[in-house]
Amino acid sequence: MLNFGLIGCGAMGRALGAAVAEHVTEAAVVAAFDPYRPNVESFCAESGAKAADSLEELLARADVHAVMVASPSNLHREQTIAAAEAGKHVFCEKPMALSLADCDGMIAACQAAGVKLMVGHSMRLYPLTRRLVELARGGELGTPLYAFGAYFFSRFKDRPSGIWHLERSGSGGLLFHMGIHHIDLLQAAFGPAERVQYLGGKYGEQVHDFHDVCSLLIRFRAGATATLVSSGISPVNWREMTFLFSNGFARLDSPWSYLEYGPEEAHLVRVEPDDLPGPEAVTLELTSFTRWALYDEAPVFTAGEGRAAVAVAEAAQQSEESGGWAEVAR
Ligand SMILES: NC(=O)c1ccc[n+]([C@@H]2O[C@H](COP(=O)([O-])OP(=O)(O)OC[C@H]3O[C@@H](n4cnc5c(N)ncnc54)[C@H](O)[C@@H]3O)[C@@H](O)[C@H]2O)c1
Repeated sequence: MLNFGLIGCGAMGRALGAAVAEHVTEAAVVAAFDPYRPNVESFCAESGAKAADSLEELLARADVHAVMVASPSNLHREQTIAAAEAGKHVFCEKPMALSLADCDGMIAACQAAGVKLMVGHSMRLYPLTRRLVELARGGELGTPLYAFGAYFFSRFKDRPSGIWHLERSGSGGLLFHMGIHHIDLLQAAFGPAERVQYLGGKYGEQVHDFHDVCSLLIRFRAGATATLVSSGISPVNWREMTFLFSNGFARLDSPWSYLEYGPEEAHLVRVEPDDLPGPEAVTLELTSFTRWALYDEAPVFTAGEGRAAVAVAEAAQQSEESGGWAEVAR
């Protein structure tokens, strides 16, 4: 049995806790920490976990074998390193951190302590995205040539001022916070990105201190290209991912309720999530992490994918500053 300590009992922390309780048979959440008392108290009342008064207290518990880091993104680095130094395995939410140097520090700390580190890029594990990645990697429709991804949501419009999501220092901005999902999905499908060109602007009157509309051009090492567009002030929520192959086409439609693909218009296959058996994404990643920690079973992904996504977001930041293309660090 793998006992988790939950760090951060907000929206995602609760989702992770619920997934462990309901679907991961070999794990349990036994303790939790959140400096905002109402969140930790309500989580513990519902789950039966013990509330810790500090991160140190949580990490000092001998019955905690691993942690789930679901705190604001700017805290992932220091909390992961503290957990590793306390000998705990770490499941860290996306984005892994807000810089590549921080990712490297986290990986080094976990390696030095001999603990596992996974970054929760759950979006590549949805049934339809798994199938999309399989199409790109398997060569069924030829070589991947191009991808178009759109990620429009209204969230920044609804948030009150002063919370971490709205501050670049807290969330990293639009690409680190939300675009990172599509960046990871594209690298899962097309392999590592080589260079990027960023373009964006702040158009909304809300209090966030970063661009709320942005586009990213990406060239992959294997030769394909992609365009990602994202906005946090859209009147409608819209997610799309379209791939062009040398012998076909695939499109994940908004709100990702179906995937259609095939060699030509007249022969498109349409699949819906229920057509593809398998666990839900968060259950899949947490089950994999648990079995990796307990039995050293090969995981669905590790920290490497989290680091690779941050490398692209960091290059986008460099391109934003310079106005030109930026190389993605290896
Ligand atoms: N994989 C996904 O699809 C997905 C979805 C949503 C969020 N996330 C990630 O999960 C993380 C949390 O996001 P959220 O939407 O749950 O945010 P949230 O604001 O709902 O929750 C964050 C929680 O962290 C707590 N917190 C603040 N300081 C802390 C500290 N020092 N130690 C521990 N907890 C602290 C807050 O009080 C709050 O309860 C972010 O990194 C986010 O990017 C991932």
